[in-house]
Amino acid sequence: MTPGKNAQPRRALVTGGASGFGLGIAQSLLAQGAQVAIADIQAGRLQEAAQRLNSTNALPLELDVTSVDSVRAAVESCKSTFGGLDTLVNSAGVIHIAPLAAIGERDWDRVIDVDLKGVFLCCQAAAPLLCKSGRGRIVNIGSDASKLGCGMIVSYCAAKFGVVGLTKALAAELAPHQVTVNCVCPVGVSTTGMGQDVLSWKIRNVGAKPEEILAATAAGIPLQRNATTADIVNAAMFFLAEGSSFLTGVALDVDGGLLSIMPMPGTAQ
Ligand SMILES: NC(=O)c1ccc[n+]([C@@H]2O[C@H](COP(=O)([O-])OP(=O)(O)OC[C@H]3O[C@@H](n4cnc5c(N)ncnc54)[C@H](O)[C@@H]3O)[C@@H](O)[C@H]2O)c1
Repeated sequence: MTPGKNAQPRRALVTGGASGFGLGIAQSLLAQGAQVAIADIQAGRLQEAAQRLNSTNALPLELDVTSVDSVRAAVESCKSTFGGLDTLVNSAGVIHIAPLAAIGERDWDRVIDVDLKGVFLCCQAAAPLLCKSGRGRIVNIGSDASKLGCGMIVSYCAAKFGVVGLTKALAAELAPHQVTVNCVCPVGVSTTGMGQDVLSWKIRNVGAKPEEILAATAAGIPLQRNATTADIVNAAMFFLAEGSSFLTGVALDVDGGLLSIMPMPGTAQ
């Protein structure tokens, strides 16, 4: 998707920008001529990502989304380097997989802090600049676990359900300022950092080979394949397209139909 003929290139902050979906979204924005701060807590990954992107329009920033000072500093860097900000993508995230009884208080706090509080802090800090731009966009990355309760990832589910609520509440509050706020809710993608961690956990706990696990997850999806990073990036870029300025408060499932459709009961082979 390319920006409209007369559209100004975007000035974006992408959290979790050093890896996975965040990196893919940053890459697509750069390809459209945007200026993009790729912001991540992992300095090493950030350097690798900047080298890979190899663009003078990419601004690598060390950021911890759980720290209000770190978030404000990142937004300030965008303001001083780009002269403003009109796009925020919240992709930073962590997961903790464990049964209820084994979830420690710190594990719980870490997931809620990164996955929910982090989104709030970034939206709050960026909002004045997004409002000022007159064309602000926020895209949050939720999950299928934003819509369905899923065992073994209780804290992650709680945080990701919260991200949808936060998306809708902020969409309402920021609408008068022409800032749209939407959420992309992906099903599992095994090739990102988090996806690899989840796959490794399944390999250890189910005792199956990676290809068997991937075949089983694909078989459970109506479109009969696993999602790719490109599927998720394309959905985020759809919300960021100039022509999507009338869409707000949407939590879009990118899941091959998993949460929306089913065969007629009793007819599935
Ligand atoms: N991969 C999947 O299966 C999947 C499915 C649904 C939703 N998601 C969501 O997609 C988003 C991106 O995940 P991904 O799959 O690309 O994984 P990823 O691990 O490749 O990317 C997440 C990035 O977030 C960064 N991060 C973690 N804590 C941070 C913090 N405190 N401050 C700043 N950055 C921090 C990590 O360093 C990492 O680079 C996450 O919000 C995740 O919950 C992933």
